[in-house]
Amino acid sequence: MSQQAPPVLSVIGTGYLGATHAACMAELGFQVVGVDVDQAKIDLLNSGRVPFFEPELEELLQRARESGRLTFTTSFAEAGQNADVHFICVGTPQQPGAYAADMSQVFGAVTELAPHISGTDLVVGKSTVPVGTAEEIVEILKNTAAGGVEVAWNPEFLREGYAVQDTLKPDRLVVGVRSERAEQIMREVYAPLIGDGVPFLVTDYPTAELVKVAANSFLATKISFINAMAEVCEAAGADVTQLAEAIGYDPRIGNRFLAAGLGFGGGCLPKDIRAFMARAGELGAEEALTFLREVDQINLRRRAHTVDLARKTLGGDFRGKVVTMLGATFKPDSDDVRDSPSLDVAVAIYNSGADVRIHDPKGIANAQRVYPHMDYRTDLTDAVTGSDLVVLGTEWSEYRELDPRTLTSLVRTPAIIDARNVLDSVTWRAAGWTFRGLGRPTA
Ligand SMILES: NC(=O)c1ccc[n+]([C@@H]2O[C@H](COP(=O)([O-])OP(=O)(O)OC[C@H]3O[C@@H](n4cnc5c(N)ncnc54)[C@H](O)[C@@H]3O)[C@@H](O)[C@H]2O)c1
Repeated sequence: MSQQAPPVLSVIGTGYLGATHAACMAELGFQVVGVDVDQAKIDLLNSGRVPFFEPELEELLQRARESGRLTFTTSFAEAGQNADVHFICVGTPQQPGAYAADMSQVFGAVTELAPHISGTDLVVGKSTVPVGTAEEIVEILKNTAAGGVEVAWNPEFLREGYAVQDTLKPDRLVVGVRSERAEQIMREVYAPLIGDGVPFLVTDYPTAELVKVAANSFLATKISFINAMAEVCEAAGADVTQLAEAIGYDPRIGNRFLAAGLGFGGGCLPKDIRAFMARAGELGAEEALTFLREVDQINLRRRAHTVDLARKTLGGDFRGKVVTMLGATFKPDSDDVRDSPSLDVAVAIYNSGADVRIHDPKGIANAQRVYPHMDYRTDLTDAVTGSDLVVLGTEWSEYRELDPRTLTSLVRTPAIIDARNVLDSVTWRAAGWTFRGLGRPTA
């Protein structure tokens, strides 16, 4: 690699993580080539469009394309020959029928890239992986034409909905390396961010790999902790929102990620804690993570509880009832429906006999692909008209701002379950609604 010119980067896998990383690195001034096996995705990205919804990303992508610094291809040869640093950003989904991660995309991408890279290149893992993966990639590369290529591990902490901001202004950068040269290249790649004062932590491979799953496990635990408190509040007639506010004032606890509700979902937290448990088991450390099984169970129980609460609110029977689910995505400001709690609940209510309509500002197309038989409505008024029960399942801002008085004339029965605890129960009850929250008293 040239000492003078900045490194040219390739980003392998252009999904939520890779497309964001590629556009942001081009924004920072690097020449970047994005690679994916999905031709339709590459065509879309090359036309300046983002194949998913993420605030700010399309503008950034278009700017980067116009600058000539960002291109996309399906050719590993093109990426391998033109770039010096290769970020692996492919998916690591849960294996069907198991807790462990399916690593075929990661090992497949590295194997395809290997014949096209040279001994001075650096392969940088960003996907969330089981500890030990960097070491496995070193072995794969040893046995190919790319023998001698170094590996670094650089986990990604971005949040969907804030992906651009999180990439350009991360809380920290973590880099697992095995040589000063690899560290130096990573410092060069992130020089603009390091210059802005972003903490840059250099570790060994296993620590870097574990940092990511440890962080996700902590966040999942915090959410499930407050949802466990919600279960107790329900039994005791207490209000978990007040409880959370009160304990959150203690700076050792803090109020972030302490919102009781329908729990976590998405393409990361659930599969990451499961893969972490599976890997700990392989390493003989399963006892250390048995609590994560409970974290997962508490989280899934909230979904079942919401279905039960809906049934109770409707008088014990879903048949002949119209239920409107507000939200299909696993969180607001994203179109991602992977393991979405609201979609899961909507489908469970449908399977129990209700006529279910689903509204979402951005997630309908993705939800339709997974559950084509469900009834999706793009217009909110249409979605709630004639409804017997409205369930707020994803806290999009437009749902937070709903006026109960306007809705009263549209629905058949004014009843709502606020499964994200974002509405003002007093206002809704004053407007004549039956109002239920999770972990909150019934009246
Ligand atoms: N989405 C997030 O918020 C987020 C945040 C941090 C970390 N991560 C991690 O990043 C990784 C990617 O997640 P994602 O949400 O972007 O997934 P994704 O499914 O949106 O994207 C993966 C992409 O990789 C492509 N791909 C698959 N096999 C390939 C191959 N052999 N060569 C090239 N491309 C290939 C797919 O076509 C797809 O476009 C996962 O490990 C995830 O846990 C995701």
